[in-house]
Amino acid sequence: MQDRYKKFDLTNKVAVITGASEGIGRDMAVGLAEAGADIIICSRREERLLEVKKIAAKTGRKVQTYTVDIQNVSEIKGLKAFIKANAGKVDILINNAGYAVTKPAWEVSETDWDTMLDTGFKGLFFCCQTIGSIMREQGYGKIINLSSTLSKSIVPGRAVYAGLKAGINHLTEALAMEWAPHGIRVNAIAPTAVNTPSRQATLQGPMLEKVLARIPLRRLATTEDLLGAVIYLSSGASDFVTGQTIFVDGGWVAAR
Ligand SMILES: NC(=O)c1ccc[n+]([C@@H]2O[C@H](COP(=O)([O-])OP(=O)(O)OC[C@H]3O[C@@H](n4cnc5c(N)ncnc54)[C@H](OP(=O)(O)O)[C@@H]3O)[C@@H](O)[C@H]2O)c1
Repeated sequence: MQDRYKKFDLTNKVAVITGASEGIGRDMAVGLAEAGADIIICSRREERLLEVKKIAAKTGRKVQTYTVDIQNVSEIKGLKAFIKANAGKVDILINNAGYAVTKPAWEVSETDWDTMLDTGFKGLFFCCQTIGSIMREQGYGKIINLSSTLSKSIVPGRAVYAGLKAGINHLTEALAMEWAPHGIRVNAIAPTAVNTPSRQATLQGPMLEKVLARIPLRRLATTEDLLGAVIYLSSGASDFVTGQTIFVDGGWVAAR
């Protein structure tokens, strides 16, 4: 391999992935370990994390689990202490954990609102701030936030989710600007629909047909599609990229 391609190698990097117990986060965690990173996988369900650990450990990389509810800032501080004690550093933070409610805006309850925002926006911000503070001490780090095509387009029933994902794109730019002097790159990945466990109930029948009709490449995204973007943004190959949202969406946003 020519030296310039070694920039994509993540060997001996430490990556922390939230929401790694299933779906996109799980496959990103395994993919990062395959690319050479030691990983710390986080979510609320320990038994699911241990299942993911078994799969990721086959790569030979160090895999650690940490149980955390990111709605609670003091629990995120516990994660920071765990990283410092058990890895000593963090090169990559993937803010993937999220919660989505699909219902007409008229019917959204205060609990729906709080759970979506406390997980997907407050939790994400305080993960950036808390885990990012280790990166500030190091003078280097890569933060990747999970956005969505709905940050730039609309489907009925997803008003709050769309608003918070648009907020993530803008927050990503704001943090990229504030933290560039500390060597911290902050970017986002915005997938179109991926058939993860949390989406299986909605991505069916006529709804699935509608979604496919809006994607010029005429299929859903797979976690495999997202992996190239994650590895690029995690690696030295993207060291001059910050404040960007990369749409991995089969052309959805371009076609809107
Ligand atoms: N799937 C799609 O079509 C799609 C499209 C665009 C963007 N996205 C975004 O991609 C990300 C992953 O989506 P997904 O469909 O794979 O899964 P998801 O169902 O949105 O997220 C589930 C993950 O987040 C964890 N989680 C939820 N609340 C948490 C909390 N309070 N604290 C810690 N962890 C928490 C869950 O684990 P525990 O239950 O174990 O805590 C699980 O691992 C999300 O940010 C989503 O908005 C998804």
